[in-house]
Amino acid sequence: MTSPLPSEETLPQPVLNPPASVAVFLVATIAPGGESAVREVLGSLAGLVRSVGFPSPEDGLGCVAGVGSRAWGRLFDGPRPAELHPFRELAGPRHHAPSTPGDLFLHIRAARTDLCFALAAELMRRLRGAVTVRDETRAFSSFDSRNLLGFVDGTENPVGPAAADAALAGAEDPGFRGGGYALVQKYLHDVDAWDALAVEAQEKVIGRTRLTNLELDAPGSHKDVNTLLGPDGAEQKILRSAMPFGRPGHGEFGTYFVAYARTPAIPETMLRKMFLGGPCSGPDPLLDYSRAVTGSLFFIPPADFLAKPGG
Ligand code: HEM
Repeated sequence: MTSPLPSEETLPQPVLNPPASVAVFLVATIAPGGESAVREVLGSLAGLVRSVGFPSPEDGLGCVAGVGSRAWGRLFDGPRPAELHPFRELAGPRHHAPSTPGDLFLHIRAARTDLCFALAAELMRRLRGAVTVRDETRAFSSFDSRNLLGFVDGTENPVGPAAADAALAGAEDPGFRGGGYALVQKYLHDVDAWDALAVEAQEKVIGRTRLTNLELDAPGSHKDVNTLLGPDGAEQKILRSAMPFGRPGHGEFGTYFVAYARTPAIPETMLRKMFLGGPCSGPDPLLDYSRAVTGSLFFIPPADFLAKPGG
């Protein structure tokens, strides 16, 4: 079942922006007493993005900000987003999805590194002393939208109205129409073990051909595990924004994974199937080559809530 798109008077944050060539992901915790600085930065975010991005609109600078469960009540009076809770750790016999601290999430993206850098620098200048940065990842798009395992990533992402429907809450949480959730995980890949696999074996893990990106009938593959059907038989979608990052000099090769979703229940169900296995399939074979090192859940308030919390 689809629900109505956000009403005209709610303006979402730019979660629906198309994939960009550069991203900076920041996850921070808020220091005691840092709340007012954080509120101020959130309130001025749209203006800051406009200032840094206005001279080069073609480069599409955008920033999405999210707030974690433990920080919500410290920052805002009034009702909480209905489904906001801390990221739920998953500990299976073989795979572990840790839950790591995160009060504030910033997803900056643009076609240019300098724009992302300039915005991140200004945000951090204003937040100095108010937050502790727990993770800062600079990510990039690689060749034709490929991850560092060599496969095209993002093909089955919903587009147009379906993307808004997947990522933005509608009538189910009336106080926060146009908001949504971001489930965020940083993964590190064992590229040596992956590269030792034959291409056909890699394709069975992903569920698509490597060169031509065609769907395969591959039961138990990553694609298969993450094809989720609702009670009405319709596919339940999330809007993924996964990007490669790494430091080859340190042997680091990773995927920064963000699932934007109208409800956290959808990506959480996917994660349970991936890490613990489901009734019809074992855990996701992709996890034999990919290890989650962070995990946090955030609410992405509508842009007009950030500008004026409480309305
Ligand atoms: C190591 C991290 C991950 C990598 C490298 C990765 C890679 C991929 C690739 C290559 C595809 C196939 C092409 C596409 O449709 O995009 C895919 C599909 C997909 N992935 Fe992932 N993924 C990762 C983590 C996750 C996680 C954590 C989730 C869910 C919480 C997820 C959900 C999905 C979904 C829903 C699809 C589309 C399935 C379909 O309808 O065909 N992925 N992923």
